[in-house]
This record gives sequence, structure tokens and C-alpha cells, in this order.
Amino acid sequence: MSLIEQAAKRLEELRRAGAEVGEGSADAARGHAATEPERIPTPEAALREINARRAAAAAPARTEALREPIARPAAPAPAGPASLRIDIDLARLKAQGMVTPDAPRSQIADEFRVIKRPIVRNAFGRAGTRVANGNLVMVTSALPGEGKTFTAINLALSVAMEVDTTVLLVDGDVAHPDFPKRLGVRSSPGLLELVTRGDIDVGDVLVRTNIDNLSIIPAGTPHRRSTELLASEQMAILLRELATRYPDRMIVFDSPPLLATTEARVLATHMGQIVMVVAADDTRQRDVDLALGTIENCEIVLMVLNKADKTDVGAYYGYYGDEPRPA
Ligand SMILES: Nc1ncnc2c1ncn2[C@@H]1O[C@H](COP(=O)(O)OP(=O)(O)OP(=O)(O)O)[C@@H](O)[C@H]1O
Ligand SMILES: [Mg+2]
Repeated sequence: MSLIEQAAKRLEELRRAGAEVGEGSADAARGHAATEPERIPTPEAALREINARRAAAAAPARTEALREPIARPAAPAPAGPASLRIDIDLARLKAQGMVTPDAPRSQIADEFRVIKRPIVRNAFGRAGTRVANGNLVMVTSALPGEGKTFTAINLALSVAMEVDTTVLLVDGDVAHPDFPKRLGVRSSPGLLELVTRGDIDVGDVLVRTNIDNLSIIPAGTPHRRSTELLASEQMAILLRELATRYPDRMIVFDSPPLLATTEARVLATHMGQIVMVVAADDTRQRDVDLALGTIENCEIVLMVLNKADKTDVGAYYGYYGDEPRPA
């Protein structure tokens, strides 16, 4: 029982026993009632008491209304969906060629170790180079099917495997959410509810997982205008909140392809870092150029060459513009 609850209980007992608790109620609410010695009222206190009683007699309803919130214990936070949790099927992930915590030395784990290094450094400034909103990382590509979801999940898993780093993986591909199929998480409530419903908070949609440092926000319930919400002011507010509430947490956004929806480009403007997935031997140079053109105002754009045959992990990274190269 909290100090406030103890004090409120004590106050109620005193009331039932017929004691006058008007003056002490504020202290009681702060938890001092049970320990304070009995006081002999000074003339000033007696005068205040008389005035208070007169005021109470003249306007009992108002006095009650004022007194009540002081004496009532704070209502406990409703125990609700904040406790949502799923067990990600690690064997299934591994079968799909993805990073899993129980195989830290696999080839894919090694590749994502290289990929995540500059992203982590930009996000948390571990080498003194913290980027503004660097912990907001959007994974995107020019067109569908190039490996955005594959990359977003692997990046999140790889970062979550680091000590002292927590990751929030968000399904931002709200029109075609893929997390239910990939990770076994249900789709709603999620991101869409967070930006459309005032009564829903991050804690109501956040899903914890069997990977200690990894939580997920699903996409939410899709509707006709889901994708438009990615470009809304409410989304911008939410992103600011996510970035600043826990600055030591990385937020990885899976997102729609840049050339398919203009909203993905607006979403990109709020991100500290963009990971641009290019499918080797698949994405055409022209589409890559067009896609990069849509996000040219984003300061940090890192390119990942996906589905490459080469085993040389150096081939997995490309850099766009003047970003610092990995050490
Ligand atoms: N490096 C890879 N190795 C093996 N399979 C891969 C790789 N990258 C992607 N895939 C597979 O290719 C398919 C498409 O990948 P993914 O769903 O990640 O693409 P996407 O860009 O998110 O597509 P969409 O735009 O439709 O959401 C999936 O079946 C995925 O498992
Ligand atoms: Mg996808």
C-alpha cells in the first residue's frame, strides 16, 4: 500500500471515529497523518477552524468537492493491455534466414552486425556523434518486395541483442502489415489507433516479446485512409514523443515503399535516419535514384544492398551523400 493510500485509509478511520480532519487532510494526503503528534491549536488555527466550519456550513457541497480529491487515494492505473506479450517463434525466424538471439554467429547475424554499427552510433552518439532524432530509424525502399520488412526485423533483432540497448519495432506499413505473419503478433490495436484515438496511449498498444530488449507496436486496424495517417500532424507528434520519451531506445519503423505512396516520404522527414533497401540485381538504378530524390532532405540515408549473392559483408553497405562512413 502506498503512503497516500495508507494516509487515506487512516483518514477514513479517523473520520469514522468522529475526529475532525479538515485541517490535517492535506498533510494526510501527503502521508504524514499517522506519524504527526497531536497539536494544540493556536488562536490563529482556532480562528481558521471556525471560519472553515462556517464556510462548510454555508456551502457543504463545495467543501466536500474540494476535500474529496485530497483524501481519496490516487486511483491505480488500470491493469490493461500494457501487459500484452507474445512469444516470437525463433525456430521459424531462423528457418526464414533471419537473425535470432540463439545464433549470434550466423552469417546473417554477422551481416547485420555490420549494418547496425553506424546506425547505433548515430542513434546514441557512442562515438560522440549523436544525430538529431537519430533513434528514429525508418527502413524503406523504392518498390514493394525489396526486403524492407526482412531488414527492419533483422536490424531490430540485432540491436536488441546488444547489452543496454532496447528497441521498439513499429509496423509502419499500415496498409499491408506484415508483422502478424512474420512475428505472430496480432495487428491491433496499434499505430493507427495511437494516432486516431485520444484514449489510447503507447502503453496500451505496446507488445513485449520473449526477446528481452525488444517490444513491438503493430500497425493497427487498417481502413481506407490508413496510409494518409502516416503524413498526419498526429503522427508527427507521436514520433516526437517516441523519440524523446526514452532517448536510449531505438525505434525501427518498417514502412511502405517510397515510390508507391507520398505519405512514406512525409514520414521520412520526421526520422533521424533512413535505411534504404536496394534489392541486388532487382531494383533498377532509375528507381533507386527516384526514391533517393524523394527523401533528399533527410540528413542521414544509409543504403543496404539486400539479397546479394556475395558473402563479403562489406558489399551490404552503401552510403548516400556525405554521411560518415563506418569505422
Ligand atoms: N536477404 C534475404 N534473404 C532471404 N530472403 C529474403 C531476403 N530479403 C527478403 N527476403 C524475402 O523476400 C520477400 C520480400 O521481402 P520483404 O517482405 O521483407 O519485402 P518488403 O520490401 O517488406 O515488401 P513489401 O513492400 O511488400 O512490404 C520475403 O519473402 C522475404 O522473406
Ligand atoms: Mg514489408
